Amino acid sequence: MVLTTIVGEAFLCPNAPFTGSAEFKKPGGTYMNMNLTKKILAAHLAKPSDMVPGEEIFLKVDQTLTHDINAVMTYLAFEAIGLDRTQVETSVSYLDHNLLYLDNKTPDDHIYLQSVAKRYGVYVSRPGNGICHAVQVARFGAPGKLSMGGDSHTPHGGAIGMLCIGVGGMDVATAMTGVPMRLKMPQVIKVNLTGHLKPGCNAKEVILEMLRRVGIKGGLGKVFEYVGPGAATLTVNERATISNMGAEMGATTSIFPADEQVRKFLKAQKRETDFVELTADEGCSYDGEMELNLSELVPLCACPHQPDNVIPLKDVEKKKVQQVFIGSCTNASYSDIAKAALVFQGRHVHEDVSCTCGISSKQIYLQLMKDGYLEMLMNAGVRLLELACGPCCAIGQSPATKGVAVRTSNRNFKGRAGNPTAEIYLVNPESAAATAIMGTFTTAEEILGEEIVKLADIQEPDEYPVDDSMIVRPLPPEEAREVEVVRGPNIKPLPVPDAPEQHLKVQISLKTVDNITTDDITPASAEFSSMRSNIPLMSQYCYHRYDPTFAERARQMGQSIIIGGENYGQGSSREHAAINPMYLGVKAVIAKSIARIHKGNLLNHGIIPMIFADPADYDRVELEDTLEIHNLLDQMQTREVEITDVTKGFNFKAQLELSDSELEVISCGGQLRYLKRQLEEMGR
Ligand code: F3S
Repeated sequence: MVLTTIVGEAFLCPNAPFTGSAEFKKPGGTYMNMNLTKKILAAHLAKPSDMVPGEEIFLKVDQTLTHDINAVMTYLAFEAIGLDRTQVETSVSYLDHNLLYLDNKTPDDHIYLQSVAKRYGVYVSRPGNGICHAVQVARFGAPGKLSMGGDSHTPHGGAIGMLCIGVGGMDVATAMTGVPMRLKMPQVIKVNLTGHLKPGCNAKEVILEMLRRVGIKGGLGKVFEYVGPGAATLTVNERATISNMGAEMGATTSIFPADEQVRKFLKAQKRETDFVELTADEGCSYDGEMELNLSELVPLCACPHQPDNVIPLKDVEKKKVQQVFIGSCTNASYSDIAKAALVFQGRHVHEDVSCTCGISSKQIYLQLMKDGYLEMLMNAGVRLLELACGPCCAIGQSPATKGVAVRTSNRNFKGRAGNPTAEIYLVNPESAAATAIMGTFTTAEEILGEEIVKLADIQEPDEYPVDDSMIVRPLPPEEAREVEVVRGPNIKPLPVPDAPEQHLKVQISLKTVDNITTDDITPASAEFSSMRSNIPLMSQYCYHRYDPTFAERARQMGQSIIIGGENYGQGSSREHAAINPMYLGVKAVIAKSIARIHKGNLLNHGIIPMIFADPADYDRVELEDTLEIHNLLDQMQTREVEITDVTKGFNFKAQLELSDSELEVISCGGQLRYLKRQLEEMGR
């Protein structure tokens, strides 16, 4: 066996160059004057298309990304498909979310993930190398590439002019087969940035302001393309904060041009050869436009319990803060942490505050250490955590009962930090440091006064300490075939749903409010995350924090339907929010609207996503009502299904907002069955 770890050196990810307009495919012609998003999509079209918003397009994927707490199901599905090796240019598996080995479960998962990656030609970023999105953009991403990742914050990579889309784990398994991925062509919204950020304001203010204006559903079916003189002033790490949190608006993705900032970043990563300048064509058109002047921004705060509940930080009620967390993929870059450290310099964390810091990657940690910033943090009483997601997804550092937690991460849903009684406020790292010092909501300017200008002196390094010894490279195919995949007792088989039948008569097992998150359906935490490879166990905790009686009720009913409000399934891409209800017998979700990634996960795992034709019918149906649908399969073909509420004695209609291929997926019982059929037809 050859040594597969590269010790103490950089390696270049084998990125083929962006092929540009030569590959654009338009029926009967070539594209002209394109925005950046369309340019990249066009270069990846597997079938010619006019790329009309709302129409389905099929795309060849260059890169896939998975992480430990979602990935076991992805690789079990890939194994079940039966191919010999990943078919995309680069697949990377990150072990970065849950590094607390509470018992055998997570180490079982990690050993499985490392061995299955070796078997199928996938890179592994080992525990301690850093958070997936930070490492992916630094070490693997390249302008013009198309990436699909099993994590909703995959759009982070839009910072370097790459089109990165968050999807469910089954979709990643599909992408790895090389089968073209379907996507509803998004609208492309131009966001023209002008001005420049003032010291004490951070890229966090840009995305919080976007959230304030657009809301958590305002990005549905859209790509936000940031351009203009203000965009040119933002570093790749600042852009990453914005594109990462575009997920909170429900956007398909966000993107910045591959310009001088990107060249500088890739050069600092010793990867300048991966740079290709990529911008929107002059005079190109967009489906909508917004203006945002960076100079007008002030420190902002997203208040509980949604990231669009944004107000100026100075207007937040001066409550006592119990906990501050500076970190996560969103805001733990070199300059983020260095600026927080400067606010702390010569000061101390308030005695009533627990303040932790999770840095995004090993290379950033090393650079901060070299430049003395870690010492400043430690002298201030900040506790340095592992290089992992950790507190962001409730893996450690839960707030106290009714605790007020201030975080630089991206989500403040109820329970996201592991304690549903806590309140989470999202701010930038400079504000978080100031707040930790005072013990109540404070801006950096209130601490630093005129010295606030020194924050503007912080620059990203010209050269990062590059050492890829924590990345395990794929084995050559002949050696990979000899690898034994290790399955500990926590790895249970992937449940595969049956195809729907013509007649469905079932009860309603749950009726939810609006904006149910995947955290509500499948709670995060070290304990729950370690169950994600074991659906029989984890399904017992489905909706545990929202309605602890649901799992048992659904199990007793055998088969059932869930009723949802608006934006059902927003938030994280975790497909367990579909797999667990499916395992408990849920056959359909009827909601006022369903979030994009979750809708895909429901389809992939055989749950029919339906939308109330008349939202007023939501108020008429109740928990435990019996619903009956005749000729379901035939009605599905018309995209409208008539449902009888047998208990109340009335009929109502629900719509299926599905493309032809999505309808095929759900009709044959989910993506795994569909994909196997497709591959058979292709003779693979
Ligand atoms: Fe990890 Fe939180 Fe980002 S869970 S990938 S740090 S959103």
